[in-house]
Amino acid sequence: MSVSDGLRDIPVDRLRPEDAAIELERLAAEIAAHDEAYYRNDDPSVSDAAYDALRQRNEAIEAKYPKLIRADSPSKRVGAAPAEGFAKVVHSVPMLSLANAFSRDDVADFLDRVRRFLNLPADEAVEVMAEPKIDGLSVTARYEKGRFVMAATRGDGREGENITENLRTLQDLPDRITAKDLLGGGVPDVLEVRGEVYMAKSDFLALNERQEAAGAKVFANPRNAAAGSLRQKDPAVTRARPLRVFFYSWGEVSDVTWKTQAEFNDRLVDWGFQANARARVCRSLDEIMAEYARTEADRAGLDYDIDGMVYKVNRLDWQERLGQVSRAPRWATAHKFAAEKATTVLEKITIQVGRTGTLTPVANLTPVTVGGVVVGRATLHNEDYIAGKDIREGDTVIVQRAGDVIPQVVEVVADKRPAGAVPFVMPDTCPECGSLAIREDGAAAKRCTGGLICPAQAVERLKHFVSRDAFDIEGLGARNIEAFWGEGWLTSPADIFDVDGLTAKLDGREGWKEKSIDNLRKAIEERRKIGLDRFIYALGIRQVGQATARLLARTYGSFTALKAAMAAAQDRDGEAYAELIDIDQIGPAVADDLLGFFAEDHNQDVLAALEAALDIQDMVAADTSNSPVAGKTVVFTGTLETMGRSEAKAKAESLGAKVSGSISAKTDYLVAGPGAGSKLKKAEELGVTVLTEDEWLELAGRT
Ligand code: IVH
Repeated sequence: MSVSDGLRDIPVDRLRPEDAAIELERLAAEIAAHDEAYYRNDDPSVSDAAYDALRQRNEAIEAKYPKLIRADSPSKRVGAAPAEGFAKVVHSVPMLSLANAFSRDDVADFLDRVRRFLNLPADEAVEVMAEPKIDGLSVTARYEKGRFVMAATRGDGREGENITENLRTLQDLPDRITAKDLLGGGVPDVLEVRGEVYMAKSDFLALNERQEAAGAKVFANPRNAAAGSLRQKDPAVTRARPLRVFFYSWGEVSDVTWKTQAEFNDRLVDWGFQANARARVCRSLDEIMAEYARTEADRAGLDYDIDGMVYKVNRLDWQERLGQVSRAPRWATAHKFAAEKATTVLEKITIQVGRTGTLTPVANLTPVTVGGVVVGRATLHNEDYIAGKDIREGDTVIVQRAGDVIPQVVEVVADKRPAGAVPFVMPDTCPECGSLAIREDGAAAKRCTGGLICPAQAVERLKHFVSRDAFDIEGLGARNIEAFWGEGWLTSPADIFDVDGLTAKLDGREGWKEKSIDNLRKAIEERRKIGLDRFIYALGIRQVGQATARLLARTYGSFTALKAAMAAAQDRDGEAYAELIDIDQIGPAVADDLLGFFAEDHNQDVLAALEAALDIQDMVAADTSNSPVAGKTVVFTGTLETMGRSEAKAKAESLGAKVSGSISAKTDYLVAGPGAGSKLKKAEELGVTVLTEDEWLELAGRT
């Protein structure tokens, strides 16, 4: 979609500086989005491995081009800023993250770095404490004079959420601590202990059963369940959830009386905290690797999820000398386990048809447990993936679950292939509607061309229409949509707003009582009024996600204006089309999908019906009457030093400026940072005012 897309595959050592800046910008935005999904919404959007790869690439580029390190660089940040709803707590000692190791070599490098930094003789042993890395949520708990006074989540490492009352409900958390004083030193007056809140696997399974029976939310995994349970506005809900906590480190402490990490663990136990009993001191790389292997072998049998090991230099005086680099201590590293795998039989390959017609092959497996979760289906991505690995029905395959993502078939066990297994052929027609399925140039997937006549696409679109970021109608989730669709009650989004018709059908149906019907009626009525951006997103136009929907809403302001513009822009040589593709981030490909959607007769009918049923709110522009840049068209290029590109754009837009991706005679200002290239040249040719970042900030009023 944008220029940066082509850069993501270029090895770091072949990136030119100007491309490196673009890549760093992309990585910052992408990692921030994943962080937001993971930390704030407890709903990871990529596998851990893919996430780690993004972070590693970011770090490698930064190591090569330290001048390009951005103010919003992911390497300076841990997690996501705190969510709203909880009071904020600034950590008096920041909560750090850990660097990652993935192999024996990486661990050896870690030990070498420690040695070099401390200037140790080659024969001096570096003791490390090796312990499981708990897959939960980091928290800090503060005790003053032995009394529990405050607890907070990690948040972005600097500032977290105050969860004192929620953590207080955990049985593992002592309210008062005293030292049995076997170790001397007593309890420090101020003691902040840090650790990981988690849910035991067995408790998680039981909780999900109860949730399911009650028709409540079922959690994807123990970590999500723990996160969802801990961050409850009402601590009584947290109390009812089986949460536990392991402590493993400390923050602010008035008097540190221990000399090693191992000694600290002993104290934790002495004070009455849970510390992980598997922690071991190792004295060599071989000992560390043996401990790693031992833990990995035991992993499935542990009653809590772990995703690796953590190694910490045991001696505190060494830890202090080693210090930290950006967000992680030099004295510790996390050694991740490989994704969990299992072997099973691929019984059949079926085809799933998505909202925009994409045909996705799905492996139907003999159910198998992968890391404690029963897996019966796994994605096969697309036909190239299947051909590349030569995956056939009847094959014995290796399935992998990395983090929370959908399980994948990673490999075929070649010598177990049954006689007569034939290569898989992607169908030429849609299995749901029989329309032709085609693969467009450059696309990885086949798509059904049936559009609105395809029932699979229609039902997926309806699900999207009511989903959380779209109409978000309470009580009308994916399951009900499917059921109502199956009954023939809903065929088009506008049917949802025929509330009388819909609720009359529900009357007397099993599972529907007067109260629940009434609630659904109210929930639908509440959503008749909808913001233009949400409305555009809800339409489910291909390539039009939330960000693009917001851009369109901001650009056109009202649905009437958008519709008129889309009609006018059908003429690819006209001004309306030029204006459309001039919107930053909307290129010809997105424009094609948009215009295709608005040109379709049936869509026009649906839009007319929706318009009649809804009150689509104009996008009200903020009051920018005092803004010197209101109404001006601005283009940013090169590296910005005080803020990220997306932040700069957002700021300019909030001041009423229009941000464009390309220079034209209509451009008012080009804000050019170091590394500006062709845009700068073009601006000079066209006589566009060129500003430095500082001059721009001056003009926009440094707020
Ligand atoms: S020690 C200075 N030990 O993993 C950092 N962390 O990916 C001290 N984690 O931020 C952290 N189990 O939230 C440590 N046994 C363990 C851990 C552990 C899980 C978490 C922790 C950390 C994150 C890094």
